Amino acid sequence: MSIAFIDLAAQQKRIKPRIDAAIAKVLAHGAYVMGPEVREFEAQMAAFAGAKHALSCANGTEALVLPLMAWGVGPGDAVFCPSFTFAATGEVIPWIGASPVFVDILPDTYNMDPDALEGAIQAIKAEGKLTPKAVIAVDLFGQPADYPAIAAIARRHGLKLISDSAQGFGCTLNGKHPGAWADVTTTSFFPAKPLGCYGDGGAVLTDDDWLAERIDSLRVHGKAVASDLAGRTFDHDPKYLNMRVGLNSRLDTIQAAILIEKLAIFADEIEARNAIASRYAAGLAGSVAAAPLVIEGGVSIWAQYTIEHENRDGLAAHLKVLGIPTAAYYPMPMHVQDCYSFYPQPGGLPVSEAKAKTVLSLPMHPYLDETTQGKIIDGVRSFNG
Ligand SMILES: Cc1ncc(COP(=O)(O)O)c(C=O)c1O
Repeated sequence: MSIAFIDLAAQQKRIKPRIDAAIAKVLAHGAYVMGPEVREFEAQMAAFAGAKHALSCANGTEALVLPLMAWGVGPGDAVFCPSFTFAATGEVIPWIGASPVFVDILPDTYNMDPDALEGAIQAIKAEGKLTPKAVIAVDLFGQPADYPAIAAIARRHGLKLISDSAQGFGCTLNGKHPGAWADVTTTSFFPAKPLGCYGDGGAVLTDDDWLAERIDSLRVHGKAVASDLAGRTFDHDPKYLNMRVGLNSRLDTIQAAILIEKLAIFADEIEARNAIASRYAAGLAGSVAAAPLVIEGGVSIWAQYTIEHENRDGLAAHLKVLGIPTAAYYPMPMHVQDCYSFYPQPGGLPVSEAKAKTVLSLPMHPYLDETTQGKIIDGVRSFNG
């Protein structure tokens, strides 16, 4: 049997009767958009992450743009983000007319380098062309960014902080979720994500009542929300009163129903992922590959298990022959891609550029059995390139 990079079928087998029943329930009540399962899932998700509000939306990309829109970030503004990430992190910034400013990463965790962030903010301020407004930190590969350091910098400069936890929802630092430091946490329910649905989906989590209400409005075409309606009367349905320019960004009820079942086993799956990561670390120790390092006090949810090799492409080809799938996340950082290369990248991003050439992610999912994992470890160790 071929080895899966991410085995969604194994998970489905475990909970199939519950998923089938959950979908059947939605088909029976027929509230396909903003149905009761959406609210139920949002409440469960908020409880899981210790957040006051969880607002689901259409995908993890729009989850990022919603808070930026709510804060009125726009032309002339700078938003600081890593370049060594999935394109969605930086992509949403030009959507609203603002400028991404690319910041380098730390060489051991692949997450935003706080010193590079401080340097980038100072450089943009000194240049005087853009107004710094927000920082997007990414929990790359499943582990939390250095939030205490990043949040302190953001606060000192009066910037909003978003945690792009599309790969890291469920991760903790010193026992706390990223929302303990960030104004907003966003995530993605893309099927391959650790908490994925059976299509596209995303969510925004925050403790900020004002922001939650604004995002609730923006995700439904800028509809009027309670504070817009306070003290006003209308002779038509306020549903058609659009207070601001928004978008259509909702999680389907069927996907929420599926996510309720997946969230129920998520903590257990995070434990399994950590056991698998420990086995990888033990099995690969002393071999040519460098095992990943988690920030002190951090718990990763291991969206990816990423090693490094100077002959990354040779190792990938060697593993492919052995039937072991791998992926290079990310072979090209954002700041070197043509459509992003003209945005500011103060001081350069040498670490991001170097890592793009050496990183290789191995199969990782909670159902990776010991025998299969042994084959993968042996495969890596048998490479002499
Ligand atoms: C770091 C990061 N941010 C944002 C996203 C965007 O999520 P989605 O694909 O749900 O739009 C992803 C997902 O691929 C991601 O990995």
